[in-house]
Amino acid sequence: MTDIKKGLAGVVVDYTAVSKVNPETNSLLYRGYPVQELAATQPFEAVAYLLWNGELPTEVELARLRATERSYRVLPADVRAGIDLVPLDAHPMDEVRTALSLIGARDLAGSGSVLDASGSAAENLSRSIRLFSVLPAIVAYGQRRRRGQQPVAPRDDLDYAANFLWMTFGEEADPVVVDAFNRSMILYAEHSFNASTFTARVIASTLSDLYSAVVGAVGALKGPLHGGANEAVLHIFDEIGAAENVVPWLDAALAEKRKIMGFGHRVYKRGDSRVPTMKAALDTLVAHYDRPDVLALYETLESEFVSRKGIYPNLDYPSGPAYNLMGFDTLTFTPLFVAARIVGWTAHVIEQLGANALIRPLSEYNGPDERHIEGYVPDDAVLSAAERPEESAG
Ligand code: CMC
Repeated sequence: MTDIKKGLAGVVVDYTAVSKVNPETNSLLYRGYPVQELAATQPFEAVAYLLWNGELPTEVELARLRATERSYRVLPADVRAGIDLVPLDAHPMDEVRTALSLIGARDLAGSGSVLDASGSAAENLSRSIRLFSVLPAIVAYGQRRRRGQQPVAPRDDLDYAANFLWMTFGEEADPVVVDAFNRSMILYAEHSFNASTFTARVIASTLSDLYSAVVGAVGALKGPLHGGANEAVLHIFDEIGAAENVVPWLDAALAEKRKIMGFGHRVYKRGDSRVPTMKAALDTLVAHYDRPDVLALYETLESEFVSRKGIYPNLDYPSGPAYNLMGFDTLTFTPLFVAARIVGWTAHVIEQLGANALIRPLSEYNGPDERHIEGYVPDDAVLSAAERPEESAG
């Protein structure tokens, strides 16, 4: 009997130097640095540099990346026109997927045959930086167009996180909010061979292009078992309404065998290493916006669910309410995850191409035994020996 690893659970498929998830010590390292330390001390741009290049930037390197990032912040008019073709009531992840696909087609236009698709490491790093730089404009534009608001031009005097909030809301965010947002971007940036990153690596392994890999990854991230969970957490919060409703709501949800979004993880079984950092950021937002009701609901659901099931929150649990307090629409939460994870995906695509092997696993067939179409006569049964073409070598 073949030992099937359903969902590839527990299967190690390759090496990576990008990040290390260690469920035993409950730690997550980006290129060796604990993510908590990075979130507490670094701007997202520096962490992006680290994930792509393996080392934190010097001041000069960071200034250079920031200058490049600023130069690609504006949403090109034709990409904006493409987004406008997406129905307003389509899911924003479909909008983001479409925009990224369009950017790829535009960028690779005239680039020749599929044989040249994968590009050099230097080309792919430039493409990665461009996607990282333009994604805030895509996400901000999406939320604003759904609200019937005009787009807001980027501000060169603001760094990545502050400018992202500026372009979304059209007002300068409080430093407390910028800090919480920056931390969330860092925490979401990378997480080894998760479903969307693995999708990106599978696509890259065929020597397709980086944009195709990223578009595929967006599709994987949309699912509620993966990135869609941050949105799903807010739907649950809205359903419950207030802390005092948690117990009856949870009784009913568990009786219906519902999955409680924002809890559980394939790798972490005793808690997600990113949660304490994001929960601390949520606490600062709760204090800033004076919303103890949000904290009460959060903590009541967490303690009730953990005590009943022994399953702990993942990063999507604190980030959902945090993004809600910042003013993002619930449907914008997973696109925010894209804006952060673009760094991890592209770092992995570059790594995959640096030591590529086509990713092509096997399966165990469990369909019907061989059978035949009634009345079908195989070609070689009707051709006489003299009429048969010569055997071809292929
Ligand atoms: N609510 C209720 N039961 C759960 C949950 C949950 N959130 N998570 C796991 N379980 C139960 C599950 O029903 C199963 O029970 P049983 O053995 O009785 O059938 C058992 O725990 C094992 O669950 P599983 O789904 O087989 O385990 P997995 O390792 O495949 O699951 C998971 C990982 C993330 C898919 C799952 O925990 C889940 O569906 N969580 C909710 C969605 C979510 O929050 N996803 C975000 C994941 S982390 C961040 C990210 O990637 O974006």
